[in-house]
Amino acid sequence: MATDMLKPELPEEEAALLEVRNLKKYFPIKTGFGKKVVLKAVDDVSFAIKKGETLGIVGESGCGKTTLGRAILRLEEPTGGDVLFNGESILNKKMGEYRKKMQIVFQDPYASLDPRKTVADTIGEAMDIHKLYANKAERQEKILELMKLVGLNRDFYNRFPHEFSGGQRQRIGIARALSVNPDFIVCDEPVSALDVSIQAQIINMLEELQETEKLTYLFIAHNLAVVKHISDRVGVMYLGHLVELTTSNELYQHPAHPYTEMLLSAIPVADPDLSAAKERIILEGDIPSPMYPPSGCPFRTRCPRATEKCKESMPLLKEIAPGHFAACHNI
Ligand SMILES: Nc1ncnc2c1ncn2[C@@H]1O[C@H](COP(=O)(O)OP(=O)(O)OP(=O)(O)O)[C@@H](O)[C@H]1O
Ligand code: SF4
Ligand SMILES: [Mg+2]
Repeated sequence: MATDMLKPELPEEEAALLEVRNLKKYFPIKTGFGKKVVLKAVDDVSFAIKKGETLGIVGESGCGKTTLGRAILRLEEPTGGDVLFNGESILNKKMGEYRKKMQIVFQDPYASLDPRKTVADTIGEAMDIHKLYANKAERQEKILELMKLVGLNRDFYNRFPHEFSGGQRQRIGIARALSVNPDFIVCDEPVSALDVSIQAQIINMLEELQETEKLTYLFIAHNLAVVKHISDRVGVMYLGHLVELTTSNELYQHPAHPYTEMLLSAIPVADPDLSAAKERIILEGDIPSPMYPPSGCPFRTRCPRATEKCKESMPLLKEIAPGHFAACHNI
């Protein structure tokens, strides 16, 4: 396959819905004795997501996945770079319309729902803000439709989040995201707080909704099996950097970056006795503090292939095969 076959003049359905260019999110951190350090949670990340596509993002805890998702939606204001939605930069603009087009489903369905709001008011909140109904009857009808769409019994309408299980709460969170009829949803580990038995139901529902509601997803997960299943392409993050990006099949069959190899060798075996929290991947070697990253390649302190050059300069993401990108000096 020639590279240029993938390039210009993409048909409408192939066009990028979302483009992230050199995105950065830095947090100033005060350490002891009045010193300040910059924590580069997301550093120079670039990719595009096509309409209808699911791009998975994986990496260990603290590598910047949530910050990436939040910076794209400007829930955290990016420090640098650009985010384009339908070809237009959304930075330095009023988010009004984009708040409808771009939504998020949060990792923790316990913390992300207001305990004082009923199911109806949780789902209806964004519709209220954006005035998406003509009268109360229409509001109720729309909320009930959304509840049906995500498999929630209509009797739950006036009930409160604490009455529900994690899976049902996540359905409420998904209905809330869908309420404004978005095109793009950041799914930030939407099932990792749920029982393994419930995870598949929610994943299947998200897949069905993608078809029926014509959605594009950025799907963040630590469970590689889940990402593989749901994603068309997968990006691997390490210490704020995107270190590999390719199709889901290619990543699992021909991982190129030493970190991806390490992640894949650590796929957790499905064990119904393990709680979701225990399922997190545990890898050899400590992740360096993002406040004090190593010189050169961020992965060099744990990399079995590291050489002198890896200390000296940061490897840039390069295309190593058509559509397959990796950031490593030794590939
Ligand atoms: N508001 C903030 N202020 C300071 N540092 C932050 C803030 N938010 C995130 N960080 C730091 O940025 C880095 C990336 O965090 P982030 O939550 O994006 O990682 P993650 O990949 O989503 O991790 P997890 O898998 O645990 O959810 C971490 O070192 C984190 O401590
Ligand atoms: S650049 Fe060097 S340290 Fe970094 S992943 Fe490649 S071989 Fe390992
Ligand atoms: Mg996170």
